[in-house]
Amino acid sequence: MKLLEDRIVKDGSVLSDTVLKVDSFLTHQVDTGLMKEIGKVFSEAYKDAGITKIVTIEASGIAPALYTAETMQVPMIFAKKAKNITMTEGILSADVYSFTKQTTSQVSIASKFLSEDDVVLIVDDILANGQAAKGLISIIEQAGAKVAGVGIVIEKSFQDGRQFLEKEGVRVTSLARLQSLENGQITFMEADA
Ligand code: G4P
Repeated sequence: MKLLEDRIVKDGSVLSDTVLKVDSFLTHQVDTGLMKEIGKVFSEAYKDAGITKIVTIEASGIAPALYTAETMQVPMIFAKKAKNITMTEGILSADVYSFTKQTTSQVSIASKFLSEDDVVLIVDDILANGQAAKGLISIIEQAGAKVAGVGIVIEKSFQDGRQFLEKEGVRVTSLARLQSLENGQITFMEADA
C-alpha cells in the first residue's frame, strides 16, 4: 500500500535494527484518514471470504480493525489483555508470549461473541513473531469459528511471524513489509496489497 509506505518513510523512526517507531499515526496517535484507507484495502482483499467478524487485540490493533469492520459492515471484537469484573460469563483464553517484553500474558474474548458460524479476519498493527496472532487463532478455533486470514498493517519481514502463520496454513495480507531496518534505513519488500 503505497500511501502507507510513504507515511512510514515520512513519519516512522528507526529505533534500532529491529524496532520501528510509528506512534505518530498508528500505535499512539492515530491518523483516522489513513486508517479508513487501510480498512478499505483489507475489505477489498477479503470481500469474497464471507467475513462475519473482525478480531484484534488491544490496544494498537483496534484502530485498523475498527475501520475494516466499518467498511465490511461486521462487528469488531478486541481480545482483552486483562479480565475485568464484568467478564463473568464463558471466556475463551490463550497465552501470548511477547519476545519483545519477554513476558507471557493471557488474552481473552467472551465466548458469546464468537460461534461456529463465524468466519473471522484477524487484523493487527504490527507482525513481529506472530505470537499475538497465534493466540487469537487459538481463541477463534476454541469457539469453532474459521480464520479466513490475518491482515497486518506493518509486517517486520525479517522476523518469523509470517513464516510461522503460513506454515500453519493461514493467509497473511500485509500492507507494508519491512525487509530491513539496518543502519537506520527502511527498506521494503513487495506488499500483499
Ligand atoms: P508478536 O505478537 O508478533 O509476536 O510481537 P512481539 O511479541 O514481538 O511484540 C509485542 C508488542 O510489541 C506488540 O504490541 C507489537 O505490536 C509491538 N512491537 C513489536 N515490534 C515492534 C516495532 O518494531 N515497533 C513498534 N512500534 N511496536 C512493535 P503490544 O505489546 O501488544 O502493544 P499494544 O498493541 O498495546 O501497543
